[in-house]
Formats: sequence, C-alpha cells, structure tokens
Amino acid sequence: MAKDLSELVRSADWKLEKHVPAITAPAEAKAGEWIDVDVSVGQEIPHPNTVEHHIVWIALHYAPEGSPLSIELGKVEFGAHGQGAVANEGPAHTAPSARFRVKLAKSGTLHAVAYCNIHGLWTSSADIAVR
Ligand code: FE2
Repeated sequence: MAKDLSELVRSADWKLEKHVPAITAPAEAKAGEWIDVDVSVGQEIPHPNTVEHHIVWIALHYAPEGSPLSIELGKVEFGAHGQGAVANEGPAHTAPSARFRVKLAKSGTLHAVAYCNIHGLWTSSADIAVR
C-alpha cells in the first residue's frame, strides 16, 4: 500500500537533525511591510554537499490563518556540489541557504521544505504575527 506523501515528509529539531530547514524570520511584522525570511539546511550540523549526497532544493510556503491552502513563496535549487572532471573536486559548491523577501497581509505560518537526494523531504515551520 502506497503511503500518503504527508507520511514521507519528516520533521525534527533542526539543531539535532542536519536535514531540517531552519527558518529565520521575525516573529512579528506589519501588514504590507517587506521582511526577509532566511531558510538554510545544516545551520547547526552541516549536511554533506557532494555529487552523491546533497540538498537539491528548498521551498518556502505560507499558510495564512484560516486558509486551507498554502501559497508557495519561492523555491531555490542548488546546482553546484563539486562536480567536474573528477567528482567532488570541481571548483564550485552552492550552500543550501536562501533568502526570501516577502510581504504578508495577515498572520499565518511559514513552512520550509528541503529535499535531500538520499534522505528525502524534511520540513519545519514558524508562526508569524502580522498586525
Ligand atoms: Fe542527506
């Protein structure tokens, strides 16, 4: 029996589990004010960044209070993991870290989702009060 996708998205404390995206955002904001939301994987415990094992993308969603749907605020793909003529000795790496500049009209919850090519989907969330 196939699992529901929601059963395959894992979560944990980002300080203890290297796959969990850490959200850095203000707890409060003014309606219509631009704010920065930073999302990164491996902030406390670095995640591998090799050709064989890396974070492929991070997406940030926003669920406004009272809405049954989330809005995708953005998604960032990370393309460089040391690839080159000799695997993992290439000249570039992209860190799994992104900044989203957003303005929100009402309170809600930010949900970050990160995808590791070996260990799958991981999520975390943060509430934001908008006044
Ligand atoms: Fe991983």
